[in-house]
Amino acid sequence: DNPYPTDIREYLYKVLVIGDLGTGKTSIIKRYVHNIFSTNYKSTIGVDFALKVIQWSPDTVIRIQLWDIAGQEKFSGLTRVYYKEAVAALVVYDVTRPKTFEAVPKWKSDLDSKVSLPGGEPIPVVLLANKIDLQEQGSSLDTEDMDKFCQENGFLKWFGTSAKDNKNIEDAARFLLEEIMSRE
Ligand code: GTP
Ligand code: MG
Repeated sequence: DNPYPTDIREYLYKVLVIGDLGTGKTSIIKRYVHNIFSTNYKSTIGVDFALKVIQWSPDTVIRIQLWDIAGQEKFSGLTRVYYKEAVAALVVYDVTRPKTFEAVPKWKSDLDSKVSLPGGEPIPVVLLANKIDLQEQGSSLDTEDMDKFCQENGFLKWFGTSAKDNKNIEDAARFLLEEIMSRE
């Protein structure tokens, strides 16, 4: 309630963004951090980083270090190194390419086998069904099926997102941050 707090609390969190090639990981991060979108595709080599600073409350600042991990198979041997000390993750698939959805459990189990919270619990993970702007009129994701998939595969929640139309990305990030902060 103090408008001029003297004790500012600061947090730094490492958050991973993973999923198959070309699903939109980099685009989601660019939209979230810089509010930009490009149709040009430049596949990520290894890993990229982005930092977002959030005034969470009058006395709390959160720095999110986003690790934008390459989807290319040839970098998969490095995930153990990339995942180290992450506190949360977003797993992204492309709603126009079912194969990228089929790969989601693989990404999730890779994650769970290589990183956990200091107490040993799995890190909180949210599933992003990206490129919903490309979904044909009338066809949409079955909410019940998706909820069930999340429950069975250990995702806290899923969001249908579009980096192009700036849909649900802020909401998904906020949800994940709430989860992280609730564990503090
Ligand atoms: P890798 O780094 O190779 O693993 O790919 P990535 O997951 O980072 O994908 P990237 O963000 O580079 O996007 C791949 C292509 O999909 C680009 O051409 C983007 O413009 C396009 N794209 C990403 N998100 C969306 C979206 O929400 N809607 C549409 N229509 N296109 C998108
Ligand atoms: Mg990328």
